[in-house]
Amino acid sequence: MEQRSTAVASAMDDIRNIETEMGVTRAGVEAIRDRLIELAGQRDLFPLEDFPAPDPDAGVSSHMYRLAQDDDDRFALYAQTTSGGTSTPVHNHTTWAVVVGFDGQELNRFYERNADGGVTQVDEHMVEAGTGVAMLPDDLHAIRIDGGSLNFHCYGLALERLDQREYYNEAEGTWKIFNNIDGIKEARTGLQAC
Ligand SMILES: [Fe+2]
Repeated sequence: MEQRSTAVASAMDDIRNIETEMGVTRAGVEAIRDRLIELAGQRDLFPLEDFPAPDPDAGVSSHMYRLAQDDDDRFALYAQTTSGGTSTPVHNHTTWAVVVGFDGQELNRFYERNADGGVTQVDEHMVEAGTGVAMLPDDLHAIRIDGGSLNFHCYGLALERLDQREYYNEAEGTWKIFNNIDGIKEARTGLQAC
């Protein structure tokens, strides 16, 4: 646990420095992604049993274990686990966002807004161990996970502060506020679990 905390703190220190030096740029977020891939490569620090997925009757499809977050809610790192799969609609983040694989697979599809006010898929990437994706604040993606997984999600600002994220409601053809913070669990050392 102590080794995990040290490794996470070291990665987040580097990530703060990357953002300072490179800014919120494509190259900057890709450098953050690469630093998180390095952290996730320390596999012994993240035993799957430390991050159990929700029970089937829990009412949420995944848990987000908070591994890091600054006092001002910047630089938030979560381990997301799911056992039965989950998916999201197309959404942005309003801050930079990085997803890095650890166990299982998370399909990331990327989109652009089209002239009709909807979205058009422009790319996709299967995130799994050793890989990741990096997004700028306005970038659009949707994820789909089949079966079990544990992946790392890192954001420039904590999820509970992202109250202006948008998602595309395909059935209605409209954009709505994406307020998807269910299932966050405290996993930082020295803080009470919730
Ligand atoms: Fe996302």
